[in-house]
Amino acid sequence: MSKITTYHISSKLIHWIMAIIIIPQLIIGLYMVQILASDAPFRSTIYSLHKSFGVLAIGLIFYRIINKIINRTPPLPNSLAKWQIICAKIVHYKLYLLMVLMPFSGYLMSNSYGYPVKFFGFTMPYLTQKNYQMAGFYSNCHKYIGYLFFTLIAIHILAAMKHRFFDLKENNVLARISLFNK
Ligand code: HEM
Ligand code: HEM
Repeated sequence: MSKITTYHISSKLIHWIMAIIIIPQLIIGLYMVQILASDAPFRSTIYSLHKSFGVLAIGLIFYRIINKIINRTPPLPNSLAKWQIICAKIVHYKLYLLMVLMPFSGYLMSNSYGYPVKFFGFTMPYLTQKNYQMAGFYSNCHKYIGYLFFTLIAIHILAAMKHRFFDLKENNVLARISLFNK
């Protein structure tokens, strides 16, 4: 079987669409905690948008997992050090896990505080009943999974930049996922 050297177009598209959604979600989430008990303008709009894009992320990660099964990940270049290949794989799988856990913990947190989850105005089904003890647990999950997510994304971006600017030409893995390379 011939070696694939670049990601499938649908893998590229879903990677960048989700990055554009998740990075602002993380930043806006931190801001939301600051304005939690305030009467800041647009407070409820910000909450609604965060929840709606979070629900969208749930749909997209399901699509992404199916896409990953159908469209194989191209093998990383042999010129990369073995430890780099292992680290890249660990980080990528962790990112997948966090892309699932992050929106679900937010969803369960809202429901267990007794709040509905709306997807751009459309009320979504309750996944759990009101339970303040569980709400506190899900809130902590959403917070600490968020911190881990920030850290892993930072490592992921720094690694991509290292291979792009301070490495051999054949180790430029950014070209494999870039939308502007064939
Ligand atoms: C891609 C998905 C998501 C990301 C990356 C994300 C990220 C974050 C982050 C980083 C925080 C700040 C947490 C803290 O410091 O305590 C936050 C807060 C919050 N998120 Fe999300 N979130 C996502 C999805 C959701 C979903 C689906 C919901 C609900 C349906 C939700 C509801 C909330 C709420 C209500 C808060 C603020 C208050 C609190 O922690 O009590 N999030 N989010
Ligand atoms: C929320 C933000 C991001 C997440 C969750 C994320 C996640 C992932 C995951 C899971 C992969 C493995 C491929 C796959 O199966 O999908 C991947 C590949 C990649 N990502 Fe990201 N990514 C994010 C943002 C970024 C950004 C901002 C950059 C660069 C500036 C970047 C650069 C890359 C590169 C170069 C690859 C290809 C690695 C290879 O050649 O196998 N990512 N990303």
